[in-house]
Amino acid sequence: MPDSKDSSAGGGVPTHPSILVVFGPTGDLMARKVVPSLFYLRGQGELPPKLRVVGFGRREWGDEELRAHVRGILAERAAEADPQDVEDFLQLFEYQRGEFDEHEAYRRTLEHIAGIQDEWGVCANKLFYLAVPPENYEVIFRNLASSGLTIECSDATGWTRVLVEKPFGDDLETAKQLDGLLGSLFREEQIYRIDHYLAKEMLQAILNFRFTNNLLEREWDRESIESIDITLLESLDANKRGAFYDKVGALRDVGQNHLLQMLALVTMDRPASIAADDIRDARAALIESLLPMSARDVASSTFRAQYSGFREAVGVRPDSGTETYFQLRTHMAGARWSGVRVSMESGKSMGEACKRIVVTLRAPKQCLCPEEARYTNRIVFTLEPADQIEIVFFAKKPGVEDEIEERRFSFFLYEKSVKAQYVEEYAKLMHDAFEGDQTLFVSTREVEAGWAFIDPICSVWAAGAVPLERYEAGSADIVRAADDALSRRVTRGEVGVCGLGKMGAGLALNLIDNNWRVVGWNRHHEGADALAPHGLEPASTLRELVAALTPPRTVWLMVPSGAPIDEVLFAQGTGLAHFLAPGDTVIDGGNSHFRDDGTRAERLGALGIHFLDCGTSGGPAGARHGACLMIGGSRETFEAAEPIFADVALPGGYRFFPGHGAGHFVKMLHNGIEYGMMQAIAEGFEVLHASPFELDLEDVTDVYQHGSVVESRLVGWLGEAYSELGDDLEGVSGVVGHTGEGEWTVQTARDLEVDVPAIADSLQFRIDSEKHPSYAGQVLTALRNAFGGHGLGPGGGPRR
Ligand code: BG6
Repeated sequence: MPDSKDSSAGGGVPTHPSILVVFGPTGDLMARKVVPSLFYLRGQGELPPKLRVVGFGRREWGDEELRAHVRGILAERAAEADPQDVEDFLQLFEYQRGEFDEHEAYRRTLEHIAGIQDEWGVCANKLFYLAVPPENYEVIFRNLASSGLTIECSDATGWTRVLVEKPFGDDLETAKQLDGLLGSLFREEQIYRIDHYLAKEMLQAILNFRFTNNLLEREWDRESIESIDITLLESLDANKRGAFYDKVGALRDVGQNHLLQMLALVTMDRPASIAADDIRDARAALIESLLPMSARDVASSTFRAQYSGFREAVGVRPDSGTETYFQLRTHMAGARWSGVRVSMESGKSMGEACKRIVVTLRAPKQCLCPEEARYTNRIVFTLEPADQIEIVFFAKKPGVEDEIEERRFSFFLYEKSVKAQYVEEYAKLMHDAFEGDQTLFVSTREVEAGWAFIDPICSVWAAGAVPLERYEAGSADIVRAADDALSRRVTRGEVGVCGLGKMGAGLALNLIDNNWRVVGWNRHHEGADALAPHGLEPASTLRELVAALTPPRTVWLMVPSGAPIDEVLFAQGTGLAHFLAPGDTVIDGGNSHFRDDGTRAERLGALGIHFLDCGTSGGPAGARHGACLMIGGSRETFEAAEPIFADVALPGGYRFFPGHGAGHFVKMLHNGIEYGMMQAIAEGFEVLHASPFELDLEDVTDVYQHGSVVESRLVGWLGEAYSELGDDLEGVSGVVGHTGEGEWTVQTARDLEVDVPAIADSLQFRIDSEKHPSYAGQVLTALRNAFGGHGLGPGGGPRR
């Protein structure tokens, strides 16, 4: 692929003689964007020294009329400009009359251009800019290609490029057609698709803010970030562009492009390099990672409205159902962002403009603050009313009272006074198009991914599933109405949780934090009632739990292995299996024996109920804040339940293994390995404890934790135990508990005729510890306490 930078460009200023052909020179784009930006670039010395702007239009004009038109534009938009500069600038403009579908007019343009080239004695670069409504694109592209206007002298000089404005199609299908047409006539390096938001200083600044600083990027993921809210509220209405806007609506006009690009810039992975292709690929990958919303999600999580008076605007249908405001809420997918809430909203005629991205961090797990308060930091990137980045944080309020107040670090990108609307963006875009830098232009992948996300919303809206609300022109009150309506409606989905002990309660709260509606049941009521203030809906029987969920249901069991699981599932007249319906899914997230999974899957399968076995590691803290999950069963069932696993797990912390029991099998071996590793640590520290040296054992764990080969969570937990209990592990029992999985591992290994002496010995050690408590046993008990919340007393019971 040719270099995307123009080799003729010297030090960022395009030097080769160039011709810009503008289709639609009498229109709005020319007046608001093209002319002011070209004039600005010329003032900065950033235009090719030899440049001609040929306006191709339908009016019966000549050069002088076009120049008078441009003079009029500048009088309005650059009133302070030096008159001589204006006159010199006007000389760049020439007019070419023609209809867009008149082949002969393109031939005349070719001659016109040939004349300029003869005058300069070179083959000039040619940039074609389509400042026309999208319905004219096809005929212009075809004529450009067939007339020979786009034939290049070479890649480096005498190139030809086309600049295309959005919208690129009305949906995925039409976008593909348009791109197919473009692709058949031009190479990708010749095509510059504009989304002017990419050229906004603030949006470019986000990439630098993220990837040049080391402050936040490592925390920039689902673990630290709770939600991202993107807002594009305009003071302008759509009345001047009624006919266009009525066809398009707010979601297609800015949602498919600007808002998704804002989201991409704030969440995309670090590009492989600063090359245009790498940056465009990283943006595209992020947009592609968004899961299209289901019809149900669209109905519950989107809101649309129209301002009063829109229907009276010229070109708007009197019964128009087009939205001029929308809000949507969804969740991100993928390992880095899964479950992070996203809202996007945009509206016309909203009073004051407000364009920004708010990134909200999760509240600290433990904080030196009142229990009931939630302190969430926010990073706010504001484009309007001013280009500003703010970090919202909390600090102690000066004074004798221990109060906390909200404070802000903030800075402005630059003074607003030097910013003219659209010049900032279009000057950059024009400049980059001359230079051959496609970074700030949209790739096919981005366009298609944008439509793939937006199309399902448009279809559900078109089917009338989301009523069109009304709002007063010039007012943003509708934002609050949308917030209220969506907060009432939106959840990520529903899960029933059975068993609300340490693990189950943690899991339920974790799900609630991730915006799931959770209905919970516990053998002893109080367990469920205690969680009600945190958002859990208690059910007093399994029948009630099932009735409270919408089919197809998912029920997660966190009950002790063996008989209790069968009791919950199959007890005569009261077990879940009696109440669940075909299509529902049961997840056994406890420590069941993998051999039992097949039988349970079969019994449930006979009733049409799906079953997944899920080994859960990370103890109560993991269940609460992010676990490691090993899941077995059928892939189809797993995929349907995957959003739940993605939310409950740490990033990258869940994996599917095909076959009923495979998840519990992998988890069982994990526990077997854990036995052996813990035993080795315990024995080693017994020797260290007995050593003739005066060793501080906490220090030993600490140094091991800094780059040594045995650095591990286990050694870290032991360090914490030493810090709390001292080197002698005072009061900790040397009689070690074991709950079955070590034994199952040894037994399974034996059945498979595999020798596992280390694991077998560590199991035997625990069994023998009842009669021979030891210091190594104390270490094991302290470790079991740290990760599993087991007691420090004998066998993991309470301390005596
Ligand atoms: C355009 C939309 O792409 O973006 C307009 O077609 C919208 O409807 C505009 O007003 C918003 O851009 P900016 O730069 O004014 O925020």
